Amino acid sequence: MRRERESRARPAAPEDRDHMTMTTATDVIGAEAAHILQVYRRAPVVFERGHGCRLFDQAGRSYLDLISGVGVASLGHANPKLAAAIGAQASEVLHTSNLFFHPLQAEVASRLASLSGLPRAFFCNSGTEAVEATLKFARRYWHAQGAPREGIVAFEHSFHGRTLGSLSVTWDDHYRAPFAPLVPGVTFVPPDDPAALRAAVTSSTSAIIVEPIQGEGGVRPIPARMAAAINEACAKTGTLLIA
Ligand SMILES: Cc1ncc(COP(=O)(O)O)c(C=O)c1O
Repeated sequence: MRRERESRARPAAPEDRDHMTMTTATDVIGAEAAHILQVYRRAPVVFERGHGCRLFDQAGRSYLDLISGVGVASLGHANPKLAAAIGAQASEVLHTSNLFFHPLQAEVASRLASLSGLPRAFFCNSGTEAVEATLKFARRYWHAQGAPREGIVAFEHSFHGRTLGSLSVTWDDHYRAPFAPLVPGVTFVPPDDPAALRAAVTSSTSAIIVEPIQGEGGVRPIPARMAAAINEACAKTGTLLIA
């Protein structure tokens, strides 16, 4: 994230701050240290508000946001249409659970289907839940075939999340070691070695999981010859692809 001072940046208006009882960065960071489990190392900056691709700290300093809340704020901060839609929905009905229907879920799913070319969506709250779901879908698929498969082929330098299943297909030992034993049956191959992939994928491989562009691994696109090898291995063995 690149930080820059901007003389035009306005500090948060007093009405925006009415809800805040902690006004200094030291207050906020101290309260977090006391009351939030310390599983993430944060940069010592307290952001109070955002606008478009900018964030503003408590002193009104402006920062160019090159992270977008790790993708969550990809429509920009304080996007007026998004804020209005969230506000309108919250004032109609907040949550119905999966026990009932709601008019919008199927509408969003059909839009996603027409954009992706895939028939169905599964809604969840985070990347790691999406990965957990796909690992379970793969198990379930092979179970339903009456020929269970357990093996998963993943890639060195991959990152798929921090829950137990996702961690099992995440490469870096720094994340994995404290939580062993993880889900068994995972084989890691180098992301640029088609021969290693061909050797690892067999008729007992349930799925290959791959980031088309590795993120934490260094923003590295998967090489074209590796993508072709994945395609061939899936076609040859019936292995599912999670990407
Ligand atoms: C490729 C990939 N998969 C999964 C995740 C986990 O997503 P989340 O943090 O929303 O659980 C991340 C997070 O950075 C990711 O980069």
